[in-house]
Amino acid sequence: MTQRKTVDDLFVHMLSDIYSAEKQLTRALAKLSRTASDPQLSDAFKTHLEETQGQVERIDQVVEKTGIKLKRMKCVAMEGLIEEAAELIDEMEKGPVLDAGLVAAAQKVEHYEIASYGSLCALGKQLGQMEAVELLRATLEEEKATDLKLSEFAEKAGNEKAKQQK
Ligand SMILES: [Fe+2]
Ligand SMILES: [Fe+2]
Repeated sequence: MTQRKTVDDLFVHMLSDIYSAEKQLTRALAKLSRTASDPQLSDAFKTHLEETQGQVERIDQVVEKTGIKLKRMKCVAMEGLIEEAAELIDEMEKGPVLDAGLVAAAQKVEHYEIASYGSLCALGKQLGQMEAVELLRATLEEEKATDLKLSEFAEKAGNEKAKQQK
């Protein structure tokens, strides 16, 4: 097992983890976009897919600016979250209920990312890597905005259901 002894090591570990997570997500978001029945939700997933590609590039920039070497590793947390979304897709018919499930799955992903980038920003600050922090913060803001957008979809789905029941 590799030992992580310093803040530096932890920063590299966490950056490598989120790099793997983002790469896995580019594939998963394409699937969510194809699966969503609501065209606006499908578009929202597509938009975030494009943002996610930019986020991978931002990590490349962080690597360039800090001169660190990323570790080859798989983010198993993201693998699990994506697996759960895939199970929903396998088990449910396309439609508004599956859409609500996709929104919930995507929000779990965003919360993982928000926690990761928040911690990375804090560690980067401790290390005095302010250029890296700026890049990571830009991604953090995109993840937060995506989470808010998804909350709107979740509320919209709830309102529509309430209307149907009246
Ligand atoms: Fe992301
Ligand atoms: Fe995200």
